[in-house]
Amino acid sequence: MALPTPTPLVTCLGHVTLDVIDLDAAIADATDIVGLRLVERTQDHALLTSNRRRAELVLRRAGEDAVRAIGLEAPDATAVAEVAARVRRTGLALLTDRPSLPFIAHAVTLETPEGHVLEVHTPIPEDQAIRHGGPGIHPRRLCHVNLASPDPMACQALLSDVLGLKLSERTEACDLAWLRAADGRHHSVGVARSASPGLHHLAWEFAQFSDFMRLGDLLDTQDRLMVWGPGRHGCGDNLFAYYVDRSGFLVECSAEMEVILDDRPPSVIACPPDLSNIKVVNRWGAPPPRAWIEHLSRFAVWRETVALAS
Ligand SMILES: [Fe+2]
Repeated sequence: MALPTPTPLVTCLGHVTLDVIDLDAAIADATDIVGLRLVERTQDHALLTSNRRRAELVLRRAGEDAVRAIGLEAPDATAVAEVAARVRRTGLALLTDRPSLPFIAHAVTLETPEGHVLEVHTPIPEDQAIRHGGPGIHPRRLCHVNLASPDPMACQALLSDVLGLKLSERTEACDLAWLRAADGRHHSVGVARSASPGLHHLAWEFAQFSDFMRLGDLLDTQDRLMVWGPGRHGCGDNLFAYYVDRSGFLVECSAEMEVILDDRPPSVIACPPDLSNIKVVNRWGAPPPRAWIEHLSRFAVWRETVALAS
């Protein structure tokens, strides 16, 4: 008998919060390359967004460049409470039930056994103007993250059991897995086997392929390079191009990701660990370089967030 399909308790990726050594450089990259709007800036933090939401990228001045937390947006307090109950039942580390941002009503922050810090939170207010001017490419929204995990099968099971994420696709050995939230994007969270745990990349969703040309030209004006792409992933069917930002995080520009709104069983694909089944990773043919394969940003040792001003 088929196992019941989990019901997602989260709608989509909510925010990415990063610790950065050079806050000015991180803001400059997020605005001048990605094209985010700076919503709020103090001496020690910045809130940036690509759309009406008040914050999608949160930057905090710190002594190292590391991931502070990945935010996953739940529809309401009931869903957040259900996640908290599941965290307690499964014995996972529940770090806090205080939201990391003052305009989030309810949240619970958990830590996976491998140290990924996830904040499941009620919606971030959509109180910004629908469009903004300024430099950069201007994405539509935060798209997804890919976690690095020494035990991707366990990581994927946790994301399904605790958050209700649905497995869209995985490789036969589960070296790579992609899970979707309620909005149906092929993946809001990907998981990739890695020697050490952390974040492999974060992704912004762009509108069209010409945005990728703009990315290349903007990087070129600063004598910088793409790491991989442009191309089209086999899993998720999304267009991609990657670069490393000035704080060392791998950033993907993504477009046209597949949307799955039914309860189809996960697709299981043959792909050796060396990614030699090129159609899985890039239908256009260019394989990922070693710099992409080996990239890793680690999570910061968790500490209670100091409340922001707003
Ligand atoms: Fe990606």
